[in-house]
Amino acid sequence: MKLSPSLLAADFADLYREATSVASLASSLHWDVMDGHFVPNLTFGPPVVNALRKRIDLPFVIHLMIDHPAEYAPQFDVRPSDTIVFHVETADGADEALDAIAETPARAGISLRPATPIARLDPYLDRVAMVLVMSVEPGFGGQSFSSDALPRIRVLAERIGTRPIAVAVDGGIHAGNVRDVVRAGAEVIIAGSAVFGAKDRIQAMRALLEAAR
Ligand code: DX5
Ligand code: ZN
Repeated sequence: MKLSPSLLAADFADLYREATSVASLASSLHWDVMDGHFVPNLTFGPPVVNALRKRIDLPFVIHLMIDHPAEYAPQFDVRPSDTIVFHVETADGADEALDAIAETPARAGISLRPATPIARLDPYLDRVAMVLVMSVEPGFGGQSFSSDALPRIRVLAERIGTRPIAVAVDGGIHAGNVRDVVRAGAEVIIAGSAVFGAKDRIQAMRALLEAAR
């Protein structure tokens, strides 16, 4: 299991320090980009992510919860180890988003809301390196994990088969449910409040990693 802390729950006044504080146990950093249209919340966009990208060496996973991923994907200064994730439900077509991400050095990922059928992803599985299963309605941190995500992860893992695609799960994960998520087939665990809501981030991450075993 790989841990990807979500900076959505970090202190935005101190993003650099927050991000580097989790670096020793994180496999990547998760950046939630929201536009106030696709989801009813606003966070940060390319200028903020790019500024941090220059100063941090961990891979970035950029989770675009925005209406026009094809338009904004090229604005991120990404590296080959980074992943740009867009939502299959966005206004732009998924093929258009995948084409735009393919023009960047990053890998592509696709995500879906809890109510979107897993089968919606089938046409795109050959073009992505990651599928991000939402276990809460996207838009806000600190929500409760929906256990409906577990059978969805299993179905997804079956449909992926032998393709080299990382299954990531995002929303409401903590030490009490991480084991179920990993057992269902998740390889990348995204955790916001469980990490940045804790006083000791490293201890919180250790607890997640141990609970997953
Ligand atoms: C929600 C975001 C998540 C969020 C998870 O829209 O996509 O990445 O940060 O936060 P927690 O772990 O607090 O549910
Ligand atoms: Zn996210």
